[in-house]
Amino acid sequence: MREQDHVNQTIPLRFRMMTLGDVEAVVELEKLAFPTPWPADAFINELTINKHARYVVAEVEGRVIAYCGMWVVIDEAHITNVAVHPEYRRRGIGERLMRQMMGLALLEGGEKMTLEVRPSNHTARSLYKKLGFEERGIRKQYYSDNMEDAIIMWVKLREQTK
Ligand SMILES: CC(C)(COP(=O)(O)OP(=O)(O)OC[C@H]1O[C@@H](n2cnc3c(N)ncnc32)[C@H](O)[C@@H]1OP(=O)(O)O)[C@@H](O)C(=O)NCCC(=O)NCCS
Repeated sequence: MREQDHVNQTIPLRFRMMTLGDVEAVVELEKLAFPTPWPADAFINELTINKHARYVVAEVEGRVIAYCGMWVVIDEAHITNVAVHPEYRRRGIGERLMRQMMGLALLEGGEKMTLEVRPSNHTARSLYKKLGFEERGIRKQYYSDNMEDAIIMWVKLREQTK
């Protein structure tokens, strides 16, 4: 997977599969984005042991500024995490990264995609709605830092990537 493009017409943006060499940068992004960030080991396990895992990074001039992961199991893709560096938010990168994941999931045999999101995360909920995800359920007290519920969202991939 490669995409060469431009952020705000000036900054070159490239999507590619995550490698072990990206883990340090991704952990830094994870810390900037989440109250209970995954440690490096979690990403290393995903990249080396979990055969269902697919992780993609977005680079600007050689610097990883966003990433997203998913597990593709038979026909279901489950997003594990997605984050964009705070300095690069609101430029369409999160949306394009998610569209990359949706396309990749289809190529891998995925028919539908799911994820969990905090009710308080209106930014992410708005992004997912824009991508066609619908809110379909609740996981009670899913987030361990504040026991917030999770909203479960689903999208049918073929209907969104035509
Ligand atoms: C959620 C996140 C990945 C969005 O990335 P982004 O690159 O800033 O998003 P985009 O610029 O592609 O925005 C796409 C859509 O998302 C929504 N959105 C993004 N930022 C928003 C904001 N600050 N307020 C409201 N809606 C917002 C909008 O629907 C937007 O579409 P629009 O530009 O047509 O209005 C980013 O905010 C982030 O990393 N947040 C911290 C980590 C996180 O919460 N991850 C999700 C966990 S479930």
